[in-house]
Amino acid sequence: MKIAFIGDIVGKPGRLMLKKHLQRVQQEHYIDFTIANYENASHGFGLTQKNADELFGYGIDMMTGGNHSFDKKEILTLFDTYPLIRPMNYPKTTPGRGIYQTTLLGREVAILNLMGHYTMPLVDNPFTMIVSEIATLKSEGIKHIIIDMHAEASSEKQALLHMLKEDVSAILGTHTHVATDDLSIVDGCCYITDVGLTGCRDGVIGMCSEVPVRRFLTGLGGHFDVPDKCKTILQMIVFELNDEGRCIGAEKIKIYDDKPKIVTQAWMD
Ligand code: FE2
Repeated sequence: MKIAFIGDIVGKPGRLMLKKHLQRVQQEHYIDFTIANYENASHGFGLTQKNADELFGYGIDMMTGGNHSFDKKEILTLFDTYPLIRPMNYPKTTPGRGIYQTTLLGREVAILNLMGHYTMPLVDNPFTMIVSEIATLKSEGIKHIIIDMHAEASSEKQALLHMLKEDVSAILGTHTHVATDDLSIVDGCCYITDVGLTGCRDGVIGMCSEVPVRRFLTGLGGHFDVPDKCKTILQMIVFELNDEGRCIGAEKIKIYDDKPKIVTQAWMD
């Protein structure tokens, strides 16, 4: 099976890039299932129902979240009816769920969402939690396991790879919005530290640069805004899993504005 994973979609420019390009890329790469991270999809903060409908209409099958999952309060009403998850290491009393399970080409597939600790909200330890979650899935015979590790620190993401590389199919990093150049297949696990954003590429993490620059110069806060006009990028990982849930191929796809796509193969160890 071939699965596409899109990182943080940032605002309208990100949504429009998916509208323009996603279905064509899905056809060209024979993609069976598409995952994306929604936490910045509605003007940079959270997800509205209108934008959820829009993104699922472009061909996304399910979406993961992060520290901005709850920025738009209407998300609370969407968890029960939409294929949306939030980091599983929020406390048990937090609305929503951290795992999504589906059947794809006759195989059970589990998609999990975790959040790191560094600069993130106070949540449960993702490392201790994931060990028991993976053990439960394995005991149920589930071999196709995909993790969105939403974290600031590269070290947390790389540590998770070394903990789980023999037990899961893919670990895809999100949250920093800046792509890393380390797509690889390690012992059958597809890994990248950060997929990178889909949205504006000429601001600061997809946002207008004025407020972040002022913040760093003066210490004064301000609301981050997504630009109305900008240079754009679409970034996604496409990976193929065999019947045993091991990754046998992966590539990074980038599209700048309306230019032809750029495809880079994963390093395979
Ligand atoms: Fe985030």
